[in-house]
Amino acid sequence: MKKAMYPGSFDPITLGHIDVIHRAAEMFDELTICVLNNQAKKPLFSVDERVKIIREATSDLDNVVVDSFGGLLIDYAKEKQIHISIRGLRAVTDFEYELQIAQTNRLLSGGDLDTVFLTTSLEYAYLSSSAVKEIAMFGGDISKCVPAFLIDSIYAQYGIKR
Ligand code: PNS
Repeated sequence: MKKAMYPGSFDPITLGHIDVIHRAAEMFDELTICVLNNQAKKPLFSVDERVKIIREATSDLDNVVVDSFGGLLIDYAKEKQIHISIRGLRAVTDFEYELQIAQTNRLLSGGDLDTVFLTTSLEYAYLSSSAVKEIAMFGGDISKCVPAFLIDSIYAQYGIKR
């Protein structure tokens, strides 16, 4: 069985992430989306909320599993016996950071964990979770950025009713 994982913060998940998930799910028999439990960051949604949200956003995909992890990605990958990590690349500005993570993971895992990059579809090239948060914070329109079912709960985090 060809397995891959798609790690990230997903705070919140965007339509760009969902596009990558759909494309990766076609390429592999099983795709595990793993939400990073990063104690250092103050998130918009808790890890459990994000897992629940991503499950709902991917409920149409049979071969997608949603999980969370803390610590090093290579340790999670080893435990789950997954050898491929998927990451989306939006622009050249992502490249340096992504290259560093990919090469570090390959080195730390002794070659056991490789990274496969998918270039983001052009309509989502501008999208990021941080941009979504900044737009929502000021009551801007996020309807082209996140799944429809999520819009109200994002505004609610900022005390905005629409
Ligand atoms: O969505 P993000 O925040 O860009 O995702 C970053 C992520 C989760 C892929 C990365 O921070 C990660 O894998 N963190 C786990 C810690 C780790 O393994 N670090 C070593 C690679 S530098």
